[in-house]
Formats: sequence, C-alpha cells, structure tokens
Amino acid sequence: MTMQIFTGDVERFCGQQASIRSSTILGSGVAVRSPTTVERWLIVGAGGFGREVYSWTLGQLHAAGTNPRVGFLDDDATVLDKFPELKRLWVGRISDYEPQSGDRLLMAIGDPSAKLAVAEQLTARGGRFVSYIHPTAVLASDVQVGVGVIICPSVVICCNVRLGDFVLMNVGALAGHDSMIGDGCTLSPHADVTGQVVLERGVFLGCRAVILPKIHVGEFSRVGAGSVVISQVKPRVTMMGVPAKRIDWLQKDDDEQLQAG
Ligand SMILES: CC(C)(COP(=O)(O)OP(=O)(O)OC[C@H]1O[C@@H](n2cnc3c(N)ncnc32)[C@H](O)[C@@H]1OP(=O)(O)O)[C@@H](O)C(=O)NCCC(=O)NCCS
Repeated sequence: MTMQIFTGDVERFCGQQASIRSSTILGSGVAVRSPTTVERWLIVGAGGFGREVYSWTLGQLHAAGTNPRVGFLDDDATVLDKFPELKRLWVGRISDYEPQSGDRLLMAIGDPSAKLAVAEQLTARGGRFVSYIHPTAVLASDVQVGVGVIICPSVVICCNVRLGDFVLMNVGALAGHDSMIGDGCTLSPHADVTGQVVLERGVFLGCRAVILPKIHVGEFSRVGAGSVVISQVKPRVTMMGVPAKRIDWLQKDDDEQLQAG
C-alpha cells in the first residue's frame, strides 16, 4: 500500500517534527500509536467536510481500536438533522467539550480562521488532535507533517515539503517540492501549489487554484477557485482570476470601466 511508511515507522518518518510524536497517525487502516487506548474518536466540525472525513475514516477508526466510539463536535446542535443515520453521532458543542483521556480529535473545519481559533481553544483545554492521511495520498519520504493535519484522497506531497499544524489538503491537492504550508492553511480540492512556494499561516486556496513557483502568499490571504497566482501576495488579501489580481483592484477596475462606459 502507498502509505506503509506511516504504519511502520512514523517516528523516523516524522523525526524532525517533534510535535507529531504525541499524535496518532492513521493510514492504511492502522493507527501507529497505542490504538487500543483510544476510547472515542471525535470529528471537530459536522458540516459537509466533517461528513467527508467521517466517510473516509470510519472503517479505519473501527480497525484502529477495540470498537471505538465515533462522534462529531459542532456548535450547531441541528447540523446533522438532515442526516438521520448520522444525527445520533452529534455528541456536543465544541464550546462545551471537556476532553477525556481516551479522546482523540480530527479537525474537520475548512475556514482557516475558524479552524485555528477552535484548535487553540481545544488544545488549551487539553484536547488531543491527531493527523489523518488517506491511504491513496502519496507523500515523499522527507515530508514533515504537523499535528491536526488532514490529508485527503489522491493528495500528492513532493520532497522537502513542510506542513504546519492543522493544515487541510483536500481531495487531489498538490504541494510541490520545497514548499512550506503554514499552520491552518486550507487547500481546497485540486489546488496546486508548485515548487518552492510559501503559504504563511491561515491561507485559503479555492478549488483548482494554482500558485506558481517561488510565490510567497501572506498570512490569512485567500485565492479564489480557478485562479492562477503569478506574483507575490500580501497578507490578508483576496486574489481572483487568471492571472490573479487583488479583489479590491478588480472592483476598482469595474468602477473605472463603468465610469468610462
Ligand atoms: C475567494 C472567495 C473565498 C471569495 O469569497 P467572497 O469574499 O465571499 O467573495 P464573493 O463570492 O462575494 O465574490 C466577490 C466577487 O468576485 C467574483 N468571484 C468570486 N469567485 C471568483 C473566482 N474564483 N474567480 C473570479 N471571480 C470570482 C464574484 O463573482 C464577485 O463578483 P461581483 O462583486 O462582481 O459580484 C471565493 O470567491 C472562492 O473562490 N471560494 C472558493 C470556494 C471553494 O473552492 N471552496 C472549496 C469547497 S471544498
């Protein structure tokens, strides 16, 4: 299987990322760290992405322990009302959660700011996040993975890439060689980070966004779906289009066009 490296020797694989040593990695249906001590797996966030994480992990979660319990934490108690088979798995609000020693948490919130705020809250309370890597993902042998990371089906991560904590790489996303993906970044499906790119903390890339080589994207910036970023991106801006421009510039262009018309 593609992910054997995670099941056999995660300490060596992730040796440079000390923080991962206290986490559990699930891959190829096997938890490498004391799976039998995990009593309850909690998916944090029960929206569409939370249900996706549930669908990918359930079989593996059950394989990972002795009949472990699985549930969702979400501040909206009605979030699963339309899904009768899942409704019973809502176990409580994030804000009310009191960690139990046998709990392990999977982060399933897409919005970087919300995700980092919840991560900070739960970690401060003693919540223990794990990282999840789908067995169809392909990772180079020297990739470093932080805590609370979710790597979805068909993701490819090339050599010498570093993923911070709470990074989400959604279905089919790519991280090219020597790139650095900061804490809390979310790469939507098929987002394409080419080589030597830096995404600072909290960057959001929409579906099929492309970041050209050596581009540096400032913290908490957003790149619209299908956009191609060809120049450096300042912090806290939104970029869209091909080539991508700052959204406030696009709107200015529109106004100017209207006046000209
Ligand atoms: C970048 C993004 C987050 C900005 O969202 P926002 O701040 O709410 O902005 P809006 O959606 O209101 O769009 C603002 C303007 O940009 C345009 N726009 C939106 N997305 C665009 C895109 N990807 N490319 C070009 N233009 C876009 C809108 O039409 C709108 O134009 P208008 O002001 O003339 O009406 C959002 O546009 C986006 O691309 N999200 C990605 C969604 C996605 O891939 N989700 C993954 C789910 S798994």
